[in-house]
Amino acid sequence: MSNQKVSSKTEKELQEAILQEKVRGTPDLEIGQKYGVTFRYIERLITSSQGLNISALKVSKRIKMLYPKDFKEEQTTVWSFKQRGNWATHSGEYRGNWSPYIPRNVLLKYSKPGELVSDYFCGAGTTAVECKLLGRKCIAFDINDKAIELAKRNTSFSVESQQLVLNEEESGFKVYEPELLVGDARNLSFIQDNSIDLICAHPPYANIIHYTDSKESDLSFFDVDEYLKEMSKVAKESFRVLKPSRQCAILIGDTRRKKHVVPLGFKLINVYLDAGFRLRELVIKRQHNCKTTGFWYASSIKYNFLLLAHEYLPIFEKPEAPLLSSVKEGETAYGLLAPILGKPPLKRKLDELETTTVWVLPEKDFGKRLNKNVIDRYSGRDGYSTINFTSYSESENETNFSKNREKKKGLLFVRSPFLSNNPSQSANELYLQKVKEIIRQNLPKITEGGCIVIQTQDVRINGYIEPLAKRLVDILTLDDLWLKEIVVITQEGANSNTQNSRDYLRIAHQYLLVYEVRK
Ligand SMILES: C[S@@+](CC[C@H](N)C(=O)[O-])C[C@H]1O[C@@H](n2cnc3c(N)ncnc32)[C@H](O)[C@@H]1O
Repeated sequence: MSNQKVSSKTEKELQEAILQEKVRGTPDLEIGQKYGVTFRYIERLITSSQGLNISALKVSKRIKMLYPKDFKEEQTTVWSFKQRGNWATHSGEYRGNWSPYIPRNVLLKYSKPGELVSDYFCGAGTTAVECKLLGRKCIAFDINDKAIELAKRNTSFSVESQQLVLNEEESGFKVYEPELLVGDARNLSFIQDNSIDLICAHPPYANIIHYTDSKESDLSFFDVDEYLKEMSKVAKESFRVLKPSRQCAILIGDTRRKKHVVPLGFKLINVYLDAGFRLRELVIKRQHNCKTTGFWYASSIKYNFLLLAHEYLPIFEKPEAPLLSSVKEGETAYGLLAPILGKPPLKRKLDELETTTVWVLPEKDFGKRLNKNVIDRYSGRDGYSTINFTSYSESENETNFSKNREKKKGLLFVRSPFLSNNPSQSANELYLQKVKEIIRQNLPKITEGGCIVIQTQDVRINGYIEPLAKRLVDILTLDDLWLKEIVVITQEGANSNTQNSRDYLRIAHQYLLVYEVRK
């Protein structure tokens, strides 16, 4: 691990020197350069010497303020916090901890003061701190005793209940000390059935970041398939302990392998749906720590990949009664769906292409910029064709794609800009089938290494989200297709806090599913 600069040091001396640098607060980048070690090496050393994965040693935080300034609850499905939040004892010290804005929003939307909240992946106690500040009871666990120690430190601040005035509806509540325990999220046997009012948790994302020094039950040591199997035990326990008609919010992100995205978010949503939950909301949480200029911009173009810049916050709900297989129909059908060939309007010139998985485009020119980004990035030299979903009233005839004998193209762009109404379940099923059919018919007409890009979005039916992007990823399991990217698209200003239904978030994002054709 060490290079010439440190070759005279033994491994032990090297480690001691690095730990001293950490105590002094030297940034990891500088330590890496000075001692010729990687970031991973530093991370592993800290985790094994301290018992948990922290970014800084000997930090003691003085509380400057108990609340975020100018806090406003999120109203749409795109949540974006430019600052991670450093009120009360919150800090970014524990690696991979979540922004306190997330549990704060979830607690305020889905629980009341005095109710019982559980976070079974407690970490440094971000949710527990927010519960204390918002007058909720909290029972939180972590597999790592050192994390629980840290969480206890972070929640041991004093606060008077008079200080806790949130809004007119929530004024004058009590402060409850959180109960913080070492425990395994897969086995909550000491919690009674139907006893928790809200679950709000942030699991490891399979084995992307290790949280302990290889503890047996630490889910951050499981690879994707095993991880999902273990998470199904967590989902089952969640369903058992949660009260009917209450919510369970889980933050999860995707990962990459061999230049392709592994849709861990959608896979974990399936695990919770299989446990009996329904999907009440599917929130996109933007990440702001992505590097998008200079070297990263050049690499993103050269190797044609996007930096992961979003995570998913599915809000599940335990139904009042077990789910019946027959689903009540909604109000509207999409009309008879007609996929037709067409040329999309394009912005002639773009200053720069998008480089992350979240494309925030201006309202003016939204469609033109979107099309231009897709076509410039994914069509290569072989040109493109586009298919638009539209209703029969707008089209003369449905195009018969199999008869269409054009030369092979580098990109097929399937656009569905109409999915914004309150559709029926059967209209959704028809749409999903048609997309699959079109892809299958057109696959031979796409060049090897070419792309298929599908524009789609989540819709709400009878109060629950039908996650059409996830459904498409579930059914497009053709051997020749590799999921390359999941892109989130939204309009500038679309997540500004406009008036909204009190019960539901406004759906403010769509998706592009980018598949690569590998024969
Ligand atoms: C993403 S972190 C949670 C961070 C937390 N939200 C915070 O803000 O500090 C995931 C946590 O899950 C814990 N963990 C891993 N496997 C577990 C298990 N089987 N049961 C409970 N906790 C587990 C890890 O120790 C880690 O602290």
